[in-house]
Formats: sequence, structure tokens, C-alpha cells
Amino acid sequence: MTNQYHMQIITIDGPAASGKSSVARIVAQRRGAIYVNTGNMYRAMTWAVLQTGIDPNDQEAVRQAAAGITIDSPVVDGQTQVSIKGRVLTQEDLNSDPVNRGVSLVARVSEVRDRLVADQRALAALGPLVMEGRDIGSVVFPDSPLKFYIDASEEVRASRRRAQGHTDQVAERDRLDSTRKTSPLVIPEGAIVIDNSLLTLEQAVEAVLNRLP
Ligand code: DC
Repeated sequence: MTNQYHMQIITIDGPAASGKSSVARIVAQRRGAIYVNTGNMYRAMTWAVLQTGIDPNDQEAVRQAAAGITIDSPVVDGQTQVSIKGRVLTQEDLNSDPVNRGVSLVARVSEVRDRLVADQRALAALGPLVMEGRDIGSVVFPDSPLKFYIDASEEVRASRRRAQGHTDQVAERDRLDSTRKTSPLVIPEGAIVIDNSLLTLEQAVEAVLNRLP
């Protein structure tokens, strides 16, 4: 699976609300790479599954519904958006309470992961990427030489979510994301770990940029 594209993909993984999205977006801007937030792809799938009226706890129903849903990833201003049947989903769609509650349940379904991992690998053809998520360095691009894992304490992560106006159960999502059978959240082999609990955004960005060739 190794090819020239994988050498240009910076992978950033970590738990919910560790600050990895903000860091990844700025690192991508400074490196002239395209920023890909894979959490938004799982959120878009969850949003579409919920539209069908299905209970996200019902894995078989999720599997069937997901088979008919396609997520497109058009690039706008240096970052991928998520779009379904030509409708670009908004931050309100992607970060609603029902999506926050359901996304880890949808993301544990292996057929959903297989589809989205294939979509994520296909994005490598766009050129240099900064891709962030839970399994990017471990599963999507394990051959990338540029892997990071951004962590932060549970208190800091919960307060970041509150400051963003979200009433998200960060600890419960992490428990589900770390214990699921398919591609659980792990520190990828070879990843540089950055503890973002006490860093400013600029310090965290520098911590990544300083380690890049
Ligand atoms: O990054 P985020 O918090 O927006 O991600 C939302 C959920 O999507 C997260 O709780 C687990 C899932 N996810 C995943 O399973 N794999 C990824 N690569 C990215 C996100």
C-alpha cells in the first residue's frame, strides 16, 4: 500500500476535543496541504442515518442504511467539506446533540468504517494532506512517516467542548471509541505524542511543525 502519496500525509490522531482539529487546520495552512477532518465524515454519515429515523444503537439497521449513503468530500478553501447528494452539511448539522450522541455508535460499525477508510485513502490523490481522526496513523495511512497523536486531560477536553457551546459527553465518546472492536483509538506505532493540556494553540502548532522535515 506504500506509495509516493503516503509520504506526504501528516496524520494527527487523538481523543475527542484534544484540540487536534485546530492544530491540524493551521498546520495544513502553513504547509500548503489540504486539511481533512475525518470526524466530520463519520458525523455526516451519522446525520444521514438519523434522517432515516433509525436508532443508532441498532447496528444492523445502521449497516443497511449506511450502504445507501455516499459522502462526498469537495475541497473548499484548502479543506474538505462533507456533502450528501449535493448538500454541503453545516457545522450545526455536524455538531448537533443527536449527532454527538450517535456518532460513536455509527462509527463502530465495521462496514461504515470500511467505506469511509476507502474514501479517505482515495483523498491521497489530491496531493499533500493533513488528515486528522482516530485511526489515521494506525489504519488509514500506517506507512506515513509523519504521525502525531495529540492528547489532553479529560478536564481540559470537557471544558473546551463547553466553551464551544457543545454539551458533549466527551468521556463516554472516548470510552466507545477506545473499546470498539474495529480500529479503536490507539497511539499509532511511530507517532509523536503531544500533550496539549497546557499548550496554547500556537505552541501546539509549533510542536508539530518543529518535528516535520
Ligand atoms: O473528531 P470528532 O470528535 O469530530 O469525531 C467524531 C466521532 O467520529 C468520534 O467520536 C469517533 C469517530 N471517528 C472515528 O471513529 N474515526 C475517525 N478517523 C474519526 C472520527
